[in-house]
Amino acid sequence: MGPILELKNLTKVYGDGDNKVVAVDSVSLSLKKQEMLLIMGPSGSGKTTLLSMMGCILRPTSGEVLIDGQTVSKGEAAPRPYEDVLPDIRLRYFGFVFQSFNLFPSLTAVDNVSLILRLKKHDGKKLQADARRLIERFGLAKRGDFYPADMSGGEKQRVALARALAGDPPIILADEPTANLDSKTGLDVLRHLRELSGEAQKAIVIVSHDPKAETMADRVVFLEDGKIRN
Ligand SMILES: Nc1ncnc2c1ncn2[C@@H]1O[C@H](COP(=O)(O)OP(=O)(O)OP(=O)(O)O)[C@@H](O)[C@H]1O
Ligand SMILES: [Mg+2]
Repeated sequence: MGPILELKNLTKVYGDGDNKVVAVDSVSLSLKKQEMLLIMGPSGSGKTTLLSMMGCILRPTSGEVLIDGQTVSKGEAAPRPYEDVLPDIRLRYFGFVFQSFNLFPSLTAVDNVSLILRLKKHDGKKLQADARRLIERFGLAKRGDFYPADMSGGEKQRVALARALAGDPPIILADEPTANLDSKTGLDVLRHLRELSGEAQKAIVIVSHDPKAETMADRVVFLEDGKIRN
């Protein structure tokens, strides 16, 4: 079985002249289905930049991202079609979880999830029921009609997990998902992620400083000045 996700010599340079920062410097990696990969490294080492390029949110300066062996994102010099298909690629292949939850404040828990199902063109009649089922999976049966402002951090992050899982993407990317949570709630979120890689057969990439994440991951890579430390 080949890797679900491959990065080939991914590089991101921000700015130019005196302001030039090589945030990610020729990183190559591959991720297997059902693998939980942890990325660690000091602040400013390029973790978020790398994750954003992986998830096709950020175009690399050079290098390539491949999914199932097909190039989906390529350096800035590459012509369209890459640009045009990226939103579809993101929707189809990735679920995202962020440190600050990033839920829509004006939507209930269920609607934060059903919105993604709608974007993914799921059957309109089933959106609400399917979204509710996803939320229940994360122990939030009673929170479906709550707004983010009325939920705890852990509850919001579990809604974010449900949303990341909506439409069943094969890859989940999580950037410091436990950083705003207390240690017990953080552990709960990490356990959910771990379960997703096992039961739901997701490939998971998580950026975290959390020592608990280290014990759960299948593999850990350390970034330093944009490079993988060997
Ligand atoms: N949009 C941007 N424009 C210019 N420089 C940027 C931009 N985003 C990040 N950088 C720089 O790129 C480097 C890597 O940043 P990045 O956010 O990827 O690091 P990080 O490892 O995620 O850090 P942290 O642990 O603090 O979240 C840093 O030097 C940062 O200042
Ligand atoms: Mg970061």
